[in-house]
Amino acid sequence: MIKDLKKINSLFSKKEKRKLAFLSFTHFASGMLDLIGVVSIAPFLAIVSNDAILKNNEWIIKIKSFLDLDYKGLILFFAIASLSLIIINQLFKFFAHWYQLYLSNSLWHSLHSKIFKYYVDQSYGWHIHKTSNELLERVQIKCNAAIAGVLIPAFTILGFLITTISLFALLIYVDPFITGLLVVCVCTFYIFVTKKFKKKLNELGSFVPTYFSKTFNLTDQAFKSIKDIKIKNNSSFYSKTFNFLAKKYAMSQVTHNLISAAPRVCLEIVTYIFIFSFIIFFILKYENFSHMVLLTGIYAFSLQKIIPAAQGIYSQYTDYKYYKPTFDKIYPDLLASKDKFEEKNFGATNVSKLDFKERIELKNLSFRYQNTKKFIFENENVKISAGQFIGIVGKSGSGKTTFVDLIIGLLDPSSGEILIDGKKINSNNLENWKKNIGYVFQSSFFADDTITNNIALGINEKEIDFNKIEKVAKIAQISDFIESKLPLKYNTIIGEDGAFLSEGQKQRINIARALYNDPEMIILDEATNSLDSETENLVISSIFKNFINKTVVMITHKVSLLQNCDQIIFIEDGSVKSQGKFDSLMHENSSFKKLVAESFKKN
Ligand SMILES: Nc1ncnc2c1ncn2[C@@H]1O[C@H](COP(=O)(O)OP(=O)(O)OP(=O)(O)O)[C@@H](O)[C@H]1O
Ligand SMILES: [Mg+2]
Repeated sequence: MIKDLKKINSLFSKKEKRKLAFLSFTHFASGMLDLIGVVSIAPFLAIVSNDAILKNNEWIIKIKSFLDLDYKGLILFFAIASLSLIIINQLFKFFAHWYQLYLSNSLWHSLHSKIFKYYVDQSYGWHIHKTSNELLERVQIKCNAAIAGVLIPAFTILGFLITTISLFALLIYVDPFITGLLVVCVCTFYIFVTKKFKKKLNELGSFVPTYFSKTFNLTDQAFKSIKDIKIKNNSSFYSKTFNFLAKKYAMSQVTHNLISAAPRVCLEIVTYIFIFSFIIFFILKYENFSHMVLLTGIYAFSLQKIIPAAQGIYSQYTDYKYYKPTFDKIYPDLLASKDKFEEKNFGATNVSKLDFKERIELKNLSFRYQNTKKFIFENENVKISAGQFIGIVGKSGSGKTTFVDLIIGLLDPSSGEILIDGKKINSNNLENWKKNIGYVFQSSFFADDTITNNIALGINEKEIDFNKIEKVAKIAQISDFIESKLPLKYNTIIGEDGAFLSEGQKQRINIARALYNDPEMIILDEATNSLDSETENLVISSIFKNFINKTVVMITHKVSLLQNCDQIIFIEDGSVKSQGKFDSLMHENSSFKKLVAESFKKN
């Protein structure tokens, strides 16, 4: 637990630690007020049960003469004083509760924002080894479980611990023997219960992260492959698996909550046994009614506070144990996100474009994906002139998309360098270089949002330039469809992943999105392969008409489109085999010639 407390502590900034220290102070103050509340009842009980105290106790005599009160007035005074302390205590408790709520939710906000930013800021190379599900689950579920199940219980335990210890300290002062017995009983009871259920809680808790990842994957798989499920009629496979996991999780929750709550029932019974035993014990020990009333009162009030506090420590501890396996899984990311967050704040969005007027140069560039041993590209030296129409061609899986991802800095080369107009690309100017690029991906994401927001994806609605949206939609040959066929025109929602659109319409929205930022270089990765030839030609010629002197890089399997290229880069089996105009490649490269022949045969 100490090790975990250190881990928890390492997640917070200095300011947050100060706030947490204040939270512990409020718990301490609350514990002290509990103590004072209990102590304040003592004089009241004492004078009610024994009026001799009024005559003998020098403090009471002093107060009585100072306030000039009679016997009834004095009782009223102590009653009001005690009640006032109880009210102050409750008000303070309300404040402490508010502060805890405020702080725990602020921490929730801060940790969530940090971890989200941490994931979003990771490189594309990092992201291709993670699934969006996995990240969604980490940001939402695991992070929540870690905060609500481990971080907050850790601090709540602290508060309960202070209250319990201070009340036990008072009781030890009142009667060390009885209190000693009480401490031994309560501690033994909870230690026994904790030990007994430790293994079970760990076992139940270990299933929590497994449950989250399995059901997230299953849900994602099922809903994304719904067309396939309907055709194969195999939805029962998904429902059965989900049902099994959900039932196991629900039962684990029941057991966890039962383990957490059960001791309270036992302890409340034990408390009453204690109170009755006290009365009998005090009668036998003191044979003095007033003393008995006083002590029983103090013990009853103290126990009324101690039992919920002790139970609180225990139930928070079970939460902590239950969610610890989940916390352990997310802890490294929470820690890393904190460091990253402190290093740089939300980055500037107004990045200027890096000059790109002459050429892109690859020098001895090699690359392999993290999870593979074989290099896709090795020692490549390629020059691409700016302002030209570049075609990239090669068989499926030869490395075309990887090549483009490397040029634009989405993937980091394993070795070698990329120069833009002679300037080496590094982490300082990478963002400036990317500003030049409009990339139409081979497979794209569509938000369940309006056409406008899908074209200007990632831009605040208020900052979207609607004239530009119309302009790029026109260039992409989709404006006619939007304006004449859709009732809400640019405000039409297109469904999850563009479900309400055809593949060709989605491709044209995609092209419009890439053109929106006025790129210097437009990359079309099989970007028009769902279009009929006529629309395809219209889209391409319209891009050329509107982006004069800009670089257009087109990955395509359609040889007819390559004939107009200023330069073709032919990639074969992870290597740039040839570069040049269509006719010269036909003469010098037999593989290219074969590819062209096959392509003509197909068409
Ligand atoms: N994230 C990845 N991890 C490991 N290998 C990968 C990864 N992405 C792609 N590859 C491999 O790299 C090679 C080149 O892939 P790439 O996507 O660049 O091919 P491509 O020429 O664009 O193919 P296509 O015409 O089918 O789109 C393939 O063999 C592929 O299996
Ligand atoms: Mg590809």
